[in-house]
Amino acid sequence: MTVVDDSTLHLLPQTPRLRALHTTIRDRSVDRDTFVLTSGRIIRQLVEAGLELLPFEPRDVQTPVGRTYHGTRVAPPICGVSIARAGESMEAGLRAVAPGVRIGKILIQRDPVTKLPKLYYSKLPADLADRHVLLLDPMLATGGTALAAIDVLIGAGVAQEHIVFVNLLSAPEGIAAVRERFPRVRMVTSSIEERLNENAYMLPGIGDFGDRYFGTD
Ligand code: URA
Repeated sequence: MTVVDDSTLHLLPQTPRLRALHTTIRDRSVDRDTFVLTSGRIIRQLVEAGLELLPFEPRDVQTPVGRTYHGTRVAPPICGVSIARAGESMEAGLRAVAPGVRIGKILIQRDPVTKLPKLYYSKLPADLADRHVLLLDPMLATGGTALAAIDVLIGAGVAQEHIVFVNLLSAPEGIAAVRERFPRVRMVTSSIEERLNENAYMLPGIGDFGDRYFGTD
């Protein structure tokens, strides 16, 4: 399956520095503190790249030396929505670059009987439909959870083109699934992996992100 970087899929520039950060978090022997710190550094870059995709409007400011700087600022109100549990690891990165940002939460898990993703909980700002949403989940594997979460956002009135799905690792299978159902949702990722294994883990991958981040492995 071939995946290209285009107007809906934004892959962070694969610089040596980013590869070094990936090398650290992919290493099975790295300790948890280093994993948390290093994934946080990548998440920060991802969130900045996600904000880059939002509309901007002109904003002039006066500099300390008495000149006008013709700048910009993000135009629409924004909101983060994290997909629990792993997506919560991205909240601090969003708060760091967008102080005071509202953050909603969605919990989706596989139903033990139907095996399909099921919505267990959501808490979203009342005016979500008026906001551009950064949807936060570090892992895009099969895409099942992402599709269910995007359904929730669209059900709450958010336009597809106002959703930016921010994730750390993406499988081609997940990217294709999101694109097929929601062609106008944009995605930002720091890696497009080779594929999924038989247990739906990404390869070369990172293992279970939530377990490694929260120390539950
Ligand atoms: N979730 C993870 O934590 N890792 C994967 O590789 C796939 C889904």
